Amino acid sequence: MAEMKKIRIDEFYTMKQQRQKIAMITCYDYTTAKILAKSQIDAVLVGDSAGMVCAGYANTLPVTLEEMIYHTAGVVRGCSGKLVIADMPFLSYQQSDIHAVESAGRLIKFGGADAVKLEGGRDFESCIRAIVRASIPVCGHIGMTPQSINIFGGFRLQGKEESAALRIIEDAKRVEEAGAFMMVLEKVPAQLGLRVSQAVRIPVIGIGAGAGCDGQVLVIDDILGMDEDFSPKYVKKYANLSSEIGQAVNAYTDEVRGGVFPSDEQSYGDR
Ligand code: KIV
Repeated sequence: MAEMKKIRIDEFYTMKQQRQKIAMITCYDYTTAKILAKSQIDAVLVGDSAGMVCAGYANTLPVTLEEMIYHTAGVVRGCSGKLVIADMPFLSYQQSDIHAVESAGRLIKFGGADAVKLEGGRDFESCIRAIVRASIPVCGHIGMTPQSINIFGGFRLQGKEESAALRIIEDAKRVEEAGAFMMVLEKVPAQLGLRVSQAVRIPVIGIGAGAGCDGQVLVIDDILGMDEDFSPKYVKKYANLSSEIGQAVNAYTDEVRGGVFPSDEQSYGDR
């Protein structure tokens, strides 16, 4: 299948205006990115969920900027035809706006990303402004922001009470005003997802935030069913690769043990 045309930052804004839903997926490596390059996905996020999915950490806090540059560069090599957004990991932007611009710049310069994503609402307005001023497009991320789990007391649903919901709506407005071109809204009641989407002009991409958002993002390993022990409510599995991979590896193991693999077909002759 031919590669699709890369969607520009401003076209995501138009998609929202035209009520065209945006589909985004995470990716962490070159081989998977090559598959995404030929898919119809609108944008690819190199999430700091890499730390949980690829390295087995319990949360995203240990992920470093160098690790994110490594993952981003592999993804960009595989799907430069898609808009690639790189996540800014914990403590790569919280300290100061100058530090934030430096970190974002490294994800662009060495990772090859088209844009960066960072977590936080009103407290990160000046940070978003500084990065955008450096000509780096920013995707915001509000609601349940995983880098704040120690404040939230875990990966808990946010915005349940009206006062908390209003705070999240205000965060969304501030992120838009600061210059973000898009934002992720994570783990809030579906009704709040709709209210946030209606409160701003830029696209709101939900994860566990209901159908009222302008688009959706999920972790690729989750939709592929790579981890049979992980099935949160907001995930839909479109494949069951954990069992398919297990079966393939067992078939290979049986053939090695039975002397069936390699056959002549996989063996070199004298010349
Ligand atoms: O790190 C990540 O993968 C994310 C998305 C799931 C939104 O932030």
